[in-house]
Amino acid sequence: MKICVLPGDGIGPEIMAEAVKVLEALGLGFEMETALLGGGAVDATGAPYPEATSRLARAADAVLLGAVGGPQWDTLPREQRPERGLLGIRKELGLFANLRPAILYPELANASSLKPEVVAGLDILIVRELTGDIYFGQPRGIETRNGERYGFNTMHYTESEIRRIGRVAFEAARKRNKRLCSVDKMNVLETTQLWRDVMTELAPEYPDVELSHMLVDNAAMQLVRAPKQFDVMVTGNMFGDILSDEASMLTGSIGMLPSASLDENNKGLFEPSHGSAPDIAGKGVANPLATILSAAMMLRYTFNQEEAAARVENAVKKVLAQGLRTGDIHEPGTTRVGTREMGDAVRAAL
Ligand code: IPM
Ligand code: MG
Repeated sequence: MKICVLPGDGIGPEIMAEAVKVLEALGLGFEMETALLGGGAVDATGAPYPEATSRLARAADAVLLGAVGGPQWDTLPREQRPERGLLGIRKELGLFANLRPAILYPELANASSLKPEVVAGLDILIVRELTGDIYFGQPRGIETRNGERYGFNTMHYTESEIRRIGRVAFEAARKRNKRLCSVDKMNVLETTQLWRDVMTELAPEYPDVELSHMLVDNAAMQLVRAPKQFDVMVTGNMFGDILSDEASMLTGSIGMLPSASLDENNKGLFEPSHGSAPDIAGKGVANPLATILSAAMMLRYTFNQEEAAARVENAVKKVLAQGLRTGDIHEPGTTRVGTREMGDAVRAAL
């Protein structure tokens, strides 16, 4: 059980330290090795996803990632930006299925900017395709044509790419409330007409799951109007990027949300949904719970350790019930703690 640990940039190292301690406390005998990804990797080696990291990630059963990026790397050539490291590892490891849950913990109902009755009990899973679409489409670039600059990207999907993410989504819906909403823009984009067709063709194989379709603009609206209508949503890489940020904010606490990116064999990369938060990096105040919950997803999906995963998730619920809060989720009447105290509390609650 080999885990490649990539703390990354900003608050990454601080939150990762807590997740690693939680994993160690489980006493399951994981072998963990740390490597560089993102801005720190660029500074040390010139590349955001260095060869040594790639070797370690390929040899591991799972990758646990903190966060990458920061303003000091935003002006580098595109190839050297931290984000490129993230896209590189996703593509190289074939991590096509991105699972992004948006769950509202009852204790944190006030953190949402939506009315409590609109979001109480919210539990959505967004299944985002992660290795195709306009993110990776060729041709792409900025060129000079007819005396002016011209920017272009290419959106495309093959039916097999759509089918395999569709299956992941149908299977996930089957384990939940059996409702799947596929999101596209078929009224304008051919690629997503194919998306809708393939999803519709898959549906008869999952007669227990109710499939619906929604245009992405409407989906963005429905997510803030009546988010509890959704159970599982499945969509392409770019729409999924946008809708998953929107869904995460329904909970008001992006510091709580984990994610999983899986390949065909459930090898995966697990990371919090939030970014590297350079503004609070190094201060010991970041919320480590999303990373700890990402480790729980790793236990469940890659290592098939459902019991250990549930132990970690219950420990997180327990510390919330105890009233412990990092700054991002703090409200009057609760106890403000730092990154390390929060991690320690989770270990104590295990
Ligand atoms: C995400 C991020 C990345 C993406 C960026 C950092 C490349 O926004 O994981 O959602 O767009 O996929
Ligand atoms: Mg994003």
